Amino acid sequence: MRNITIDNITDAVIKAMSDDIPARNREIMEALIRHLHDFCKEVHLTYDEWMEAVEFLRRAGDISSDARNEFILLSDIVGMEVLVDMIDKQPTHGETVPTVLGPFYRDNPPVLPKGASIIQKDSEGQETLKVSGQIRDTDGNLVPGVMIDVWEDAPNGLYEQQDPDQPDYNLRGRFETDSDGRYEFVCIRPMPYPIPYDGAAGELLNYMGHHPWRPGHLHFLIQKDGYKTLISQIYDSETQYLDNDSVFAVKKDLIAQLKKAPEGSGTDLEMEFDFVIRSNTLLQAAE
Ligand code: BEZ
Ligand code: FE
Repeated sequence: MRNITIDNITDAVIKAMSDDIPARNREIMEALIRHLHDFCKEVHLTYDEWMEAVEFLRRAGDISSDARNEFILLSDIVGMEVLVDMIDKQPTHGETVPTVLGPFYRDNPPVLPKGASIIQKDSEGQETLKVSGQIRDTDGNLVPGVMIDVWEDAPNGLYEQQDPDQPDYNLRGRFETDSDGRYEFVCIRPMPYPIPYDGAAGELLNYMGHHPWRPGHLHFLIQKDGYKTLISQIYDSETQYLDNDSVFAVKKDLIAQLKKAPEGSGTDLEMEFDFVIRSNTLLQAAE
Protein backbone atom coordinates (compact mmCIF):
# COMPACT_ATOMS: atom_id res chain seq x y z
CA MET A 1 0.00 0.00 0.00
CA ARG A 2 1.49 3.33 -1.05
CA ASN A 3 -0.81 5.76 0.64
CA ILE A 4 -0.88 4.97 4.35
CA THR A 5 -3.20 7.25 6.31
CA ILE A 6 -4.47 7.45 9.89
CA ASP A 7 -7.66 5.79 8.68
CA ASN A 8 -6.20 2.84 6.75
CA ILE A 9 -3.03 1.94 8.66
CA THR A 10 -4.76 -0.53 11.03
CA ASP A 11 -6.14 -2.61 8.13
CA ALA A 12 -2.82 -2.33 6.30
CA VAL A 13 -0.85 -3.81 9.20
CA ILE A 14 -3.41 -6.57 9.76
CA LYS A 15 -3.43 -7.43 6.03
CA ALA A 16 0.39 -7.61 6.01
CA MET A 17 0.25 -10.79 8.09
CA SER A 18 0.65 -13.98 6.10
CA ASP A 19 -2.30 -16.32 5.57
CA ASP A 20 -0.05 -19.18 6.70
CA ILE A 21 0.30 -18.16 10.35
CA PRO A 22 -1.56 -20.17 13.04
CA ALA A 23 -5.12 -18.93 13.72
CA ARG A 24 -4.20 -18.03 17.32
CA ASN A 25 -1.30 -15.81 16.13
CA ARG A 26 -3.74 -14.00 13.88
CA GLU A 27 -6.37 -13.61 16.62
CA ILE A 28 -3.83 -12.19 19.10
CA MET A 29 -2.04 -9.88 16.64
CA GLU A 30 -5.20 -8.52 15.00
CA ALA A 31 -6.68 -7.56 18.37
CA LEU A 32 -3.37 -6.20 19.65
CA ILE A 33 -2.85 -4.00 16.59
CA ARG A 34 -6.42 -2.70 16.71
CA HIS A 35 -6.23 -1.86 20.44
CA LEU A 36 -2.75 -0.34 20.13
CA HIS A 37 -3.77 1.90 17.23
CA ASP A 38 -7.00 2.91 18.96
CA PHE A 39 -5.02 3.71 22.12
CA CYS A 40 -2.57 5.96 20.22
CA LYS A 41 -5.50 7.78 18.59
CA GLU A 42 -7.50 8.07 21.83
CA VAL A 43 -4.71 9.72 23.83
CA HIS A 44 -3.25 11.49 20.78
CA LEU A 45 0.16 10.03 21.64
CA THR A 46 2.94 12.45 20.77
CA TYR A 47 6.14 11.35 19.05
CA ASP A 48 8.13 12.35 22.16
CA GLU A 49 5.87 10.24 24.38
CA TRP A 50 6.29 7.25 22.06
CA MET A 51 10.09 7.70 22.18
CA GLU A 52 9.93 8.00 25.99
CA ALA A 53 7.98 4.72 26.09
CA VAL A 54 10.41 2.77 23.90
CA GLU A 55 13.40 4.10 25.88
CA PHE A 56 11.57 3.07 29.07
CA LEU A 57 11.14 -0.47 27.68
CA ARG A 58 14.83 -0.53 26.76
CA ARG A 59 15.72 0.34 30.36
CA ALA A 60 13.37 -2.44 31.55
CA GLY A 61 15.30 -4.86 29.32
CA ASP A 62 18.68 -3.56 30.52
CA ILE A 63 17.88 -4.19 34.18
CA SER A 64 16.39 -7.64 33.53
CA SER A 65 18.49 -10.75 34.07
CA ASP A 66 18.02 -14.44 34.94
CA ALA A 67 17.33 -13.30 38.51
CA ARG A 68 15.09 -10.33 37.68
CA ASN A 69 12.38 -9.99 35.07
CA GLU A 70 11.31 -6.34 35.04
CA PHE A 71 8.53 -7.07 32.55
CA ILE A 72 6.70 -9.23 35.12
CA LEU A 73 6.76 -6.26 37.51
CA LEU A 74 5.52 -3.88 34.80
CA SER A 75 2.60 -6.14 33.95
CA ASP A 76 1.84 -6.54 37.67
CA ILE A 77 1.69 -2.78 38.24
CA VAL A 78 -0.94 -2.38 35.52
CA GLY A 79 -2.92 -5.39 36.83
CA MET A 80 -2.14 -7.59 33.84
CA GLU A 81 -0.67 -10.68 35.56
CA VAL A 82 -3.68 -10.85 37.92
CA LEU A 83 -6.15 -10.29 35.07
CA VAL A 84 -4.62 -13.08 32.96
CA ASP A 85 -4.59 -15.35 36.03
CA MET A 86 -8.31 -14.70 36.60
CA ILE A 87 -9.19 -15.23 32.93
CA ASP A 88 -7.13 -18.40 32.51
CA LYS A 89 -7.46 -20.07 35.92
CA GLN A 90 -11.00 -19.28 37.00
CA PRO A 91 -12.02 -21.78 39.73
CA THR A 92 -15.21 -23.49 38.56
CA HIS A 93 -15.72 -26.41 40.95
CA GLY A 94 -15.06 -24.85 44.35
CA GLU A 95 -11.29 -25.17 44.22
CA THR A 96 -9.17 -22.64 46.13
CA VAL A 97 -8.87 -19.28 44.41
CA PRO A 98 -5.49 -18.89 42.71
CA THR A 99 -3.43 -15.75 42.58
CA VAL A 100 -0.15 -14.70 41.00
CA LEU A 101 3.17 -16.55 41.25
CA GLY A 102 5.22 -13.34 41.28
CA PRO A 103 8.91 -13.17 40.36
CA PHE A 104 10.45 -14.69 43.51
CA TYR A 105 9.65 -18.40 43.19
CA ARG A 106 12.67 -20.78 43.14
CA ASP A 107 12.33 -24.42 42.18
CA ASN A 108 13.91 -27.22 44.24
CA PRO A 109 13.56 -25.71 47.72
CA PRO A 110 14.71 -27.82 50.72
CA VAL A 111 12.50 -30.90 51.10
CA LEU A 112 11.38 -30.90 54.75
CA PRO A 113 9.38 -33.26 56.98
CA LYS A 114 5.88 -32.32 58.14
CA GLY A 115 6.04 -29.73 60.93
CA ALA A 116 9.59 -28.53 60.13
CA SER A 117 10.65 -24.90 60.11
CA ILE A 118 11.67 -22.97 56.99
CA ILE A 119 13.51 -20.39 59.13
CA GLN A 120 17.26 -20.83 58.58
CA LYS A 121 18.25 -17.56 60.23
CA ASP A 122 16.41 -15.77 63.04
CA SER A 123 15.67 -12.06 62.58
CA GLU A 124 15.13 -9.46 65.24
CA GLY A 125 11.45 -8.86 65.93
CA GLN A 126 10.22 -11.90 64.02
CA GLU A 127 7.05 -13.67 65.19
CA THR A 128 7.08 -17.41 64.57
CA LEU A 129 4.00 -18.93 62.96
CA LYS A 130 2.77 -22.52 62.68
CA VAL A 131 0.75 -23.05 59.48
CA SER A 132 -1.32 -26.19 59.03
CA GLY A 133 -4.34 -27.52 57.20
CA GLN A 134 -5.67 -30.19 54.89
CA ILE A 135 -5.88 -30.58 51.15
CA ARG A 136 -9.06 -31.96 49.60
CA ASP A 137 -10.27 -32.52 46.06
CA THR A 138 -13.43 -30.88 44.74
CA ASP A 139 -15.50 -33.90 45.94
CA GLY A 140 -14.25 -33.38 49.51
CA ASN A 141 -11.81 -36.34 49.53
CA LEU A 142 -8.54 -35.78 51.41
CA VAL A 143 -5.53 -35.87 49.10
CA PRO A 144 -2.31 -37.43 50.46
CA GLY A 145 1.10 -37.06 48.77
CA VAL A 146 0.54 -33.49 47.56
CA MET A 147 3.76 -31.51 47.13
CA ILE A 148 3.57 -28.01 48.64
CA ASP A 149 6.24 -25.38 48.00
CA VAL A 150 6.09 -22.38 50.35
CA TRP A 151 8.11 -19.16 50.31
CA GLU A 152 8.05 -15.77 52.01
CA ASP A 153 10.07 -12.61 52.61
CA ALA A 154 12.19 -11.98 55.72
CA PRO A 155 11.24 -9.30 58.27
CA ASN A 156 13.44 -6.84 56.34
CA GLY A 157 11.02 -7.20 53.39
CA LEU A 158 13.48 -9.08 51.18
CA TYR A 159 13.31 -12.57 49.68
CA GLU A 160 16.52 -14.51 50.19
CA GLN A 161 17.70 -14.12 46.57
CA GLN A 162 17.50 -10.33 46.99
CA ASP A 163 19.54 -10.32 50.19
CA PRO A 164 23.17 -11.47 50.51
CA ASP A 165 22.77 -11.66 54.32
CA GLN A 166 20.24 -14.49 54.15
CA PRO A 167 21.23 -18.15 53.71
CA ASP A 168 20.48 -19.76 50.34
CA TYR A 169 16.82 -20.90 50.25
CA ASN A 170 16.04 -19.22 53.60
CA LEU A 171 12.27 -19.10 54.24
CA ARG A 172 11.52 -21.68 51.54
CA GLY A 173 10.54 -25.28 51.85
CA ARG A 174 8.85 -28.22 50.15
CA PHE A 175 6.41 -30.34 52.17
CA GLU A 176 4.13 -33.28 51.45
CA THR A 177 0.63 -33.96 52.77
CA ASP A 178 0.34 -37.08 54.97
CA SER A 179 -2.18 -39.92 54.63
CA ASP A 180 -4.89 -37.55 56.00
CA GLY A 181 -4.07 -34.89 53.42
CA ARG A 182 -2.59 -32.81 56.25
CA TYR A 183 0.37 -30.44 55.99
CA GLU A 184 2.17 -28.40 58.63
CA PHE A 185 5.23 -26.14 58.78
CA VAL A 186 6.73 -23.32 60.82
CA CYS A 187 7.59 -19.94 59.32
CA ILE A 188 7.47 -16.30 60.39
CA ARG A 189 4.60 -13.83 60.26
CA PRO A 190 4.92 -12.48 56.68
CA MET A 191 5.75 -8.77 56.45
CA PRO A 192 4.60 -6.23 53.87
CA TYR A 193 7.33 -5.39 51.36
CA PRO A 194 7.81 -3.09 48.38
CA ILE A 195 8.18 -4.71 44.97
CA PRO A 196 11.58 -3.73 43.51
CA TYR A 197 11.26 -0.04 42.54
CA ASP A 198 14.86 0.82 41.71
CA GLY A 199 14.30 0.27 37.97
CA ALA A 200 11.66 0.70 35.28
CA ALA A 201 8.92 -0.62 37.62
CA GLY A 202 9.68 2.24 40.03
CA GLU A 203 9.55 4.73 37.13
CA LEU A 204 6.12 3.43 36.13
CA LEU A 205 4.82 3.55 39.72
CA ASN A 206 5.97 7.18 39.92
CA TYR A 207 4.33 7.99 36.59
CA MET A 208 1.06 6.51 37.95
CA GLY A 209 1.39 8.01 41.44
CA HIS A 210 1.15 4.58 43.08
CA HIS A 211 3.21 3.01 45.89
CA PRO A 212 5.19 -0.27 45.59
CA TRP A 213 3.93 -2.06 48.72
CA ARG A 214 2.42 -5.56 48.95
CA PRO A 215 0.52 -6.85 52.01
CA GLY A 216 2.17 -9.58 54.14
CA HIS A 217 1.55 -12.97 52.50
CA LEU A 218 2.77 -16.55 52.24
CA HIS A 219 3.21 -18.09 48.79
CA PHE A 220 1.99 -21.62 47.99
CA LEU A 221 2.60 -23.77 44.92
CA ILE A 222 0.63 -27.00 45.26
CA GLN A 223 1.19 -29.90 42.86
CA LYS A 224 0.35 -33.55 42.44
CA ASP A 225 0.26 -35.72 39.32
CA GLY A 226 -3.29 -35.95 38.05
CA TYR A 227 -4.33 -32.57 39.56
CA LYS A 228 -4.32 -29.02 38.29
CA THR A 229 -1.40 -27.13 39.88
CA LEU A 230 -2.60 -24.48 42.32
CA ILE A 231 -0.57 -21.29 42.74
CA SER A 232 -1.85 -19.01 45.47
CA GLN A 233 -1.01 -16.75 48.39
CA ILE A 234 -2.45 -16.49 51.91
CA TYR A 235 -2.76 -13.02 53.41
CA ASP A 236 -2.50 -12.07 57.08
CA SER A 237 -5.87 -10.48 58.01
CA GLU A 238 -4.03 -7.86 60.10
CA THR A 239 -1.46 -6.82 57.52
CA GLN A 240 -1.34 -3.38 55.92
CA TYR A 241 -2.09 -2.90 52.20
CA LEU A 242 -4.88 -5.49 51.91
CA ASP A 243 -6.97 -2.76 50.28
CA ASN A 244 -4.26 -1.23 48.13
CA ASP A 245 -1.87 -3.97 47.04
CA SER A 246 0.53 -2.59 44.43
CA VAL A 247 -0.04 -5.68 42.23
CA PHE A 248 -3.82 -6.18 42.90
CA ALA A 249 -3.41 -9.85 43.91
CA VAL A 250 -5.48 -9.95 47.13
CA LYS A 251 -8.69 -12.08 47.17
CA LYS A 252 -11.02 -12.10 50.17
CA ASP A 253 -11.07 -15.91 50.29
CA LEU A 254 -7.30 -15.93 50.73
CA ILE A 255 -7.27 -13.79 53.89
CA ALA A 256 -6.60 -15.80 57.06
CA GLN A 257 -6.50 -15.00 60.76
CA LEU A 258 -3.25 -15.55 62.60
CA LYS A 259 -4.09 -16.49 66.19
CA LYS A 260 -1.94 -16.44 69.31
CA ALA A 261 -0.56 -19.98 69.79
CA PRO A 262 -1.15 -21.78 73.12
CA GLU A 263 1.58 -21.29 75.74
CA GLY A 264 4.42 -23.79 75.28
CA SER A 265 3.39 -24.78 71.75
CA GLY A 266 6.72 -23.65 70.32
CA THR A 267 5.52 -20.78 68.09
CA ASP A 268 4.11 -17.32 68.78
CA LEU A 269 1.19 -17.64 66.35
CA GLU A 270 -0.75 -20.27 64.44
CA MET A 271 -2.91 -20.31 61.37
CA GLU A 272 -5.05 -23.00 59.70
CA PHE A 273 -5.80 -22.97 56.00
CA ASP A 274 -7.39 -25.78 53.97
CA PHE A 275 -6.94 -25.97 50.19
CA VAL A 276 -9.12 -27.55 47.53
CA ILE A 277 -7.47 -28.80 44.33
CA ARG A 278 -9.08 -30.06 41.17
CA SER A 279 -8.35 -33.36 39.43
CA ASN A 280 -7.41 -33.38 35.75
CA THR A 281 -10.17 -35.90 35.02
CA LEU A 282 -12.64 -33.20 36.01
CA LEU A 283 -10.73 -30.75 33.86
CA GLN A 284 -10.99 -32.93 30.75
CA ALA A 285 -14.70 -33.61 31.35
CA ALA A 286 -15.35 -29.84 31.53
CA GLU A 287 -13.54 -29.17 28.23
C1 BEZ B 1 5.18 -11.52 45.08
O1 BEZ B 1 4.15 -11.73 45.68
O2 BEZ B 1 6.20 -12.09 45.41
C2 BEZ B 1 5.15 -10.53 43.96
C3 BEZ B 1 4.10 -10.55 43.08
C4 BEZ B 1 4.10 -9.63 42.03
C5 BEZ B 1 5.13 -8.71 41.91
C6 BEZ B 1 6.17 -8.70 42.83
C7 BEZ B 1 6.17 -9.62 43.87
FE1 FE C 1 5.55 -12.26 47.55
